[in-house]
Amino acid sequence: MIHFQNVGKVFTNGNEQIKALNDIDLKVNKGEIYGVIGFSGAGKSTLIRCVNHLERSTAGKMIVDGHDLSTLTVKEIREVKKNIGMIFQHFNLLNSKTVYANVAMPLILNKMPKDEIKQRVYELLEFVGLSDKANVHPEQLSGGQKQRVGIARALATKPSILLCDEATSALDPQTTSSILELLRKINKEYNITILMITHEMSVIREICDRVAVMEAGEIIEEGTVFDVFSRPKTQTARNFVNTVMHDQIPESIIKMIESNNGSQNVFRINFIGQSAGQPLLSQLAKKFAIDVNVLFGNITELQGIPFGNLIVELQGSEAEVNRALEYLETKEIDFNEVIPHAS
Ligand SMILES: Nc1ncnc2c1ncn2[C@@H]1O[C@H](COP(=O)(O)OP(=O)(O)O)[C@@H](O)[C@H]1O
Ligand SMILES: [Mg+2]
Repeated sequence: MIHFQNVGKVFTNGNEQIKALNDIDLKVNKGEIYGVIGFSGAGKSTLIRCVNHLERSTAGKMIVDGHDLSTLTVKEIREVKKNIGMIFQHFNLLNSKTVYANVAMPLILNKMPKDEIKQRVYELLEFVGLSDKANVHPEQLSGGQKQRVGIARALATKPSILLCDEATSALDPQTTSSILELLRKINKEYNITILMITHEMSVIREICDRVAVMEAGEIIEEGTVFDVFSRPKTQTARNFVNTVMHDQIPESIIKMIESNNGSQNVFRINFIGQSAGQPLLSQLAKKFAIDVNVLFGNITELQGIPFGNLIVELQGSEAEVNRALEYLETKEIDFNEVIPHAS
């Protein structure tokens, strides 16, 4: 559906060359919500703009709906672009025109008959919940309402792909949630493939199926949202995950462990999927001559799968603690020792 094949992009400014994308290999399947996260300057906007040919890749192949964009004529590109809608961080609405006229714009450009335009625009405004705002100007709307107009306009030509460039970054958390809910509805009801870029991990967590982490023009990590959140591989991905998972051990707990000289047996036990539902700690305490002291815990849900971790202190003789740890290993429970100075 959307396939970046070793895509590169170099901007040339005078005699300065800026490598914005390097060897991007990425496939977005039909009907999925794919997120790309990265810090500012990572190359995210350049990446998404290659899909609708707002930027031309300078290396590799950009394949959209089976077409290699570099081989198409201007007219053929226009046809491909009709199938792609886009929304922006700052909405990009025309303030001099009404909401109606903004949404109608792409249909007018497509030379749709006037009465059909009217029907389509009202249908779209109803879908995004703005039926009563047709005749107002964008400056009279809230940020969330402006983005709804942006979404209605992007959907006007019935695209099968929707590109979102930081679409919720200018919105407060509550409005962000309502816009994400609308995007999910668009994805489900119309089976529209969504490629969204963001610097907010909470956005990825809320609606994406898969995610790629970008840094300095490259994709450094990629996978299902569950995999990347539960086992991030790179430091950058870990940093992003930590912004939403709050699984850092609180400072007060670390101080407590440090001041408790005798307690070296502090472990972080990761619960993923099924193991989150097992009465693991009570089993440990029953099977072995140890006490389990829970210091900190966090269990949440990712894509409908339980996920979390507990910081526990195992109190008992060295031999019993070791037996308990061996038991955890046989259960394929993921755990590691917490060394306060390093965390
Ligand atoms: N039109 C351009 N001309 C020159 N450099 C650009 C242009 N657009 C983006 N860049 C550079 O490419 C890099 C990636 O930018 P961008 O794709 O906007 O990143 P992001 O969206 O992740 O913040 C940055 O170093 C940026 O300065
Ligand atoms: Mg950007």
